[in-house]
Amino acid sequence: MKIKSVFFCQECGAQSPKWIGKCPSCGSWNTYLEENVQVSSNKSATIVQNKERSKPKLLSGINLNEQIRIDTGNNEFNRVLGGGLVPGTIILLGGEPGIGKSTLALQIALRARNLKTLYISGEESEQQIKLRALRIDENSQNCLILNEHLLENVIFHAKEIMPDLLVIDSIQTMQIEKLDSSPGSVSQIRECTSELLKFAKTYSVPTLLIGHITKDGSLAGPKLLEHMVDTVLQFEGDRNHIYRIVRAIKNRFGSTSELGIFEMQQDGLREVSNPSELLLSHNDLDMSGVAISASVEGIRPFLIEVQALVSSAVYGTPQRSSTGFDLRRLNMLLAVLEKRAGFRLAQKDVFLNIAGGIKVDDPAIDLAVICAILSSDQDLSIDKTKCFAGEIGLSGEIRPVTRIEQRISEAEKLGFKEIFISKHNKIQSLQSKFKIKISLAAKVDEVFRAMFG
Ligand code: TYD
Ligand code: MG
Repeated sequence: MKIKSVFFCQECGAQSPKWIGKCPSCGSWNTYLEENVQVSSNKSATIVQNKERSKPKLLSGINLNEQIRIDTGNNEFNRVLGGGLVPGTIILLGGEPGIGKSTLALQIALRARNLKTLYISGEESEQQIKLRALRIDENSQNCLILNEHLLENVIFHAKEIMPDLLVIDSIQTMQIEKLDSSPGSVSQIRECTSELLKFAKTYSVPTLLIGHITKDGSLAGPKLLEHMVDTVLQFEGDRNHIYRIVRAIKNRFGSTSELGIFEMQQDGLREVSNPSELLLSHNDLDMSGVAISASVEGIRPFLIEVQALVSSAVYGTPQRSSTGFDLRRLNMLLAVLEKRAGFRLAQKDVFLNIAGGIKVDDPAIDLAVICAILSSDQDLSIDKTKCFAGEIGLSGEIRPVTRIEQRISEAEKLGFKEIFISKHNKIQSLQSKFKIKISLAAKVDEVFRAMFG
């Protein structure tokens, strides 16, 4: 063994033999830190040893026995995983501090009653975990708790116990003693993950790693962590709101279009199986500035409320702010309204909010955003039985969106009377399938005229 010192970018994991100010790989400044790595000199020997064991096979000779899935006892979590845990899979669950990662992991560890689970926490004491368990009111005779941050010990206990599910809270607090860099550094994270990976694969133990997220929203630690694991889940939501979304960013054993929706309650995370009903605020007041979008997140349709407030700018430069919707996209939509539809919004403050504090990526929400803005600007309220689904192009045209039938049927199911969609959505025979009125429009102003005359 030889000790070598290398500089690692703490953002992306790139390495360099000497210190540099700007990372040539990810472009961030001042992120290089010196770490010691051990270079093993007998690498070639291990390769020769392993040669006997693995043999290339013909593709046709590979048996596809039905993937076994382990039920975690949590439907929403099973859903994001693509139907449950796969033995030996290693999952990374990332999210901002305080979003509820530990709560979710503990809930899963406790609720999966027929699984022997081992919950390792490097952050909280056993008493703290007990308090949390009392709070979420779960109890299990099959869940072992350990407060430990030395990975050697973790692996030792895991081998001893052979759990059906291993939870590591969090990967950034784990440390391998023989490496002398501090916990959370690139080489520690990488080594710890690769040790855990070895364990998970050798003994077929599904392992859930919890990972922190940096300020800019990416998983802390190197990108290479994401390459090493089988599944990357992201826990999203606004800490001040109750809704949480778990999204699969990468999944070797399932689709990445699934997502799980939870509600943070006094007693833990509750699964939300019917999101639409929760994401609409049920007020009967006719308020301007509210429009409802028939959205699809992942592959699930739901209706979501967009709220806008437009007022004359008090100061010279108008303010634009948005929660749950991309600000650049908002600015673009405002420019389209100004340029293509002739609405004067340049001197107005515009505030936009997606109800429930969730973040929406679906482009079909554009039309509802525009309608909410115009409704607030003109102070005309939009009938609560109408909803929208359409993307807006730079020339002000309403563009067709995917999964239109799903959106329409969800809207119909929830009692909406009319949905506005793009003229270009191929729907000749659609209207006959639905009772809800489907209104087609090619331009933004057509929608507005259709509603307010
Ligand atoms: P936590 O799981 O500790 O977050 P993370 O591990 O992602 O940092 O959850 C923290 C927040 O959740 C905390 O602010 C309190 C809140 N909470 C509830 O609202 N209800 C509960 O039952 C629990 C356990 C936590
Ligand atoms: Mg935590």
